[in-house]
Amino acid sequence: MTLEDRRDVETDVYQPAEDSYLLAEAVVDRLEAESDDVLLEVGTGSGYVAGRLAEELPARVIASDVNPHAVRQAREEGLETVRADLVSPFADDVFDAVVFNPPYLPTDPENEWDDWMERALSGGEDGRAVIDPFLAAVGRVLAPDGAVYLLVSSLTGVDDVVEEAGEHGFSAVAVADESFPFETLSVLELFR
Ligand SMILES: C[S@@+](CC[C@H](N)C(=O)[O-])C[C@H]1O[C@@H](n2cnc3c(N)ncnc32)[C@H](O)[C@@H]1O
Repeated sequence: MTLEDRRDVETDVYQPAEDSYLLAEAVVDRLEAESDDVLLEVGTGSGYVAGRLAEELPARVIASDVNPHAVRQAREEGLETVRADLVSPFADDVFDAVVFNPPYLPTDPENEWDDWMERALSGGEDGRAVIDPFLAAVGRVLAPDGAVYLLVSSLTGVDDVVEEAGEHGFSAVAVADESFPFETLSVLELFR
């Protein structure tokens, strides 16, 4: 990787933070994966969460992101990585679990900054601009007894996310949380 490439990665790719660590820990703790299971991490960023799953679970792990810089970084981490908008290119009923740490910060439209870091962080005015379409689409690619692990923040409105998930046939249970001065992060496990 050249210096120019490294600069692009550092400014254009979300690097692991508290939300990434909480999500990876929760999935590793909860998921009883088997060797023929296939897991998908949507919005992999640096590849940290997918890398933890690949290291600590026996399953095959696919990483994806809409951001080409993230796809490149995750591939350099040795992950099987696909450039994708949410789950659009994937076949029906294939994933035993789908994991997502979405962009969730509520953002005033006048303060949007229009770059890849905005795509990583901003959830639009209500924080759910990416979460809601994800919840509408993810059921299609999930195996019948599969589960979704979704990182949510108190800033995003956890009850609203649970209600929206219910609209798409999912029950939700919070399986991990961590509080910070300005927000509480939770991992929701969604199942049908
Ligand atoms: C908060 S970052 C999380 C990155 C990484 N998974 C982690 O936990 O460190 C959100 C990621 O979702 C990606 N993303 C945003 N919108 C997306 C979409 N429509 N489809 C796929 N990925 C998306 C962003 O590019 C970014 O990498």
